[in-house]
Amino acid sequence: MSPRPLIVDCDPGQDDAVALLLAFAAREEFDILGITAVAGNVPLALTESNARRIRDLVGRPEVPVYAGCPRPMVRKPVTAERIHGATGLDGAGLPEPVHPVGQAHAVDFLVETLLAAPEPVTLATLGPLTNVALAIVKNPAILANLREVVTMGGAAGAGNVTASAEFNIFADPHAAHVVFEAGAPLIMIGLDVTHQAIATPPRLEAIRALGTAPAAAVCGMLDVYSAKTMAAYCHGAPLHDPCVIAYLLQPDLFAGREMRVDIDIGSGPCFGRTVCDWRGRSGKPANARVLESINADGFFALLTDHLARLPAGSA
Ligand code: RIB
Ligand code: CA
Repeated sequence: MSPRPLIVDCDPGQDDAVALLLAFAAREEFDILGITAVAGNVPLALTESNARRIRDLVGRPEVPVYAGCPRPMVRKPVTAERIHGATGLDGAGLPEPVHPVGQAHAVDFLVETLLAAPEPVTLATLGPLTNVALAIVKNPAILANLREVVTMGGAAGAGNVTASAEFNIFADPHAAHVVFEAGAPLIMIGLDVTHQAIATPPRLEAIRALGTAPAAAVCGMLDVYSAKTMAAYCHGAPLHDPCVIAYLLQPDLFAGREMRVDIDIGSGPCFGRTVCDWRGRSGKPANARVLESINADGFFALLTDHLARLPAGSA
């Protein structure tokens, strides 16, 4: 199998960083065309430099990183330093990035790359959907060359920022509305799945035992992230974003259903909710495959195996 062309849109963020490492480790499976950063967990200046820190950690300067939108389309910006720390990568212990950010705006990179790609491109989204939505608005022709969009976001059940909304959607619901209405093949990986992918101490120790620089960075981040998520809302560190890359590598770890998903962009307590109509009550055609379960042990085995493939560096 030739490697699939892949673009990763992200807001690093510790779990984004682990997802990027997983993608970088899968050299036979992915041809990473580029990484696009968006404002989300922390402001854009940090998300883009954090993406470059991870790129430096694995020695892949040939993969371009582009800075995208510094704020959501309509609503006022929200961030998540309470979870990811002021740097967005607290615990990673990584130096300032060495290799520069790409000169193009991420939205322009997305449009030009998707229009020019000789074969359909997979888009993995790990943060708010602002860059992706604006690329679709700027040139809808890109939709014809999207193999699929696999997005970490939303929840059929409760949110993690409000009772109704998950952070990536809540941070830019209008962008999510554009993407969910666009008609691209869409796989939604929400909290219902990612809260099953908990980095428990035994799972973390298996990664730490690799004894490499990437493993040390992962465990340093997840040690901090675990403490904050458990204090905030969860019984451990849910590895939200790595689930997106794991789905692309081993989809049989997951199960889900096609259904209609609407984004609540009205005012009130459900603002930013992904309304997952799994009973088909709306009568509207399905616009997403919503994943509902994961084989968590298989996921962590995949993650640990791939992290072991990365350059050891100096731990
Ligand atoms: O709700 C979890 C999502 O929001 C993850 O992508 C995390 O990195 C934050 O962006
Ligand atoms: Ca993220």
